[in-house]
Amino acid sequence: MSFTKKTIRDVELSGKRVLVRADYNVPLDSKGNITDEYRITQSLPTIRYIIEHGGSVLLCSHLGRPDGKPNTKESLFPVAKTLQKLLHIEVEFVPDCVGDRAKKAADGLKKGQILLLENLRFHPEEEANDTAFAAQLASLADLFVQDGFGVVHRAHASTDAITKHMPSVAGLLLEREVDTITDVIENPKRPLVAIVGGAKIADKIEVLQQFIAVADVVAVGGAMANTFLQAQGIQIGRSKTEAADVPLAQTILATARQEKSKRPFVFYLPQDGVVAKKVDTFAPTRIVDWSANVISEIEAYPKRPAHDSTQIADDEMILDIGPFSGAFIAGTLQLAGTVIWNGAMGVTETKGTQGPIGPTAQGTELIMEAITGQFGNRPFSLVGGGDTVGFIEARGLVGSFNHVSTGGGASLELLSGRILPGVAALQDKGKTKDGGSQHA
Ligand code: 3PG
Repeated sequence: MSFTKKTIRDVELSGKRVLVRADYNVPLDSKGNITDEYRITQSLPTIRYIIEHGGSVLLCSHLGRPDGKPNTKESLFPVAKTLQKLLHIEVEFVPDCVGDRAKKAADGLKKGQILLLENLRFHPEEEANDTAFAAQLASLADLFVQDGFGVVHRAHASTDAITKHMPSVAGLLLEREVDTITDVIENPKRPLVAIVGGAKIADKIEVLQQFIAVADVVAVGGAMANTFLQAQGIQIGRSKTEAADVPLAQTILATARQEKSKRPFVFYLPQDGVVAKKVDTFAPTRIVDWSANVISEIEAYPKRPAHDSTQIADDEMILDIGPFSGAFIAGTLQLAGTVIWNGAMGVTETKGTQGPIGPTAQGTELIMEAITGQFGNRPFSLVGGGDTVGFIEARGLVGSFNHVSTGGGASLELLSGRILPGVAALQDKGKTKDGGSQHA
């Protein structure tokens, strides 16, 4: 399956001013330093391609959710500095994305030059998909390039309305993301294993249903698993859970049972977990084996397992999958042809006393090792979701995966089979008018 939208490879760029919509919604610390440059580095091939083919580049993006109100904390200024460092070319920063300053800067742009416009969401018209605002943006350039994969699930002025005002094509990142993700879901090398974590089932309901329909194994971890366990009547103490999602969990469990009755299919929920009374580097942890009955029996033998080795106390929380569950998932990955991974298995932010991998990050670490072939088999791997990408970035292992998506919500929607408005709005290959789907 190949991408059916026009890309920057299909159009003349020489002498053109090109407005590139990127997704520079990057995490910043309290001092305004960018803590994860992944979305920025992934935007560079498109920028370089345009410059190498004789164009000039006006970059635009949103950062955060400023609700239409300008503020210094959500300024894109630090991104301009990072782009300059990575590209080794001066990147001019323009403190507004429309109006006189933006127009003047755009008009003065010469071949090979790059500028970055201030946060689009400082204007409420951006999220309102306002046509007059889109026309103002369009007046800055000759061609529009959509490369902000992370935001194409939104129908905003810079993803939708703008395409009605100027020729609009895809950038190289957008093409790669859509092509890879669509291919993995439509034509995976089997067995296909989907590993899903994160907090809320409600946020991932569609993708869970899609995985149950197409995958061979679906394994659930993270806080989301707690809600499934609760739906099965397991006592989860003070574990993070979404009580409102329990009926959803029950519906998904019923769908999974139905799928299992039709074909070989596994819907796997953790059978043991790492629990603690606090989310803290120094809080003591222990393993509770609520349904595998392996670790608890071995530890207690020849006596019967103590009650608390299979029960989570009222004041404890599940903070990671346990070693039995981790080994089970890692084992399925030894047979997998493809793995889709979205969401950490436990709390990965808390460091350990002896090193960066604390006792509640071991499950995620083990899954990562299995996916990247450290136990032998190396399935084709697609990774998405902010916390998962942050974890593998911090471990310096992005290059060990086949595709690490820059999109959170966008990758989930694409995996669910939804049409992304920001992709659908671009010109189809071989046509001069807008319209059509993201794939033929
Ligand atoms: C993201 O981080 O998922 C994208 O940048 C979209 O941001 P949004 O959810 O605020 O629209």
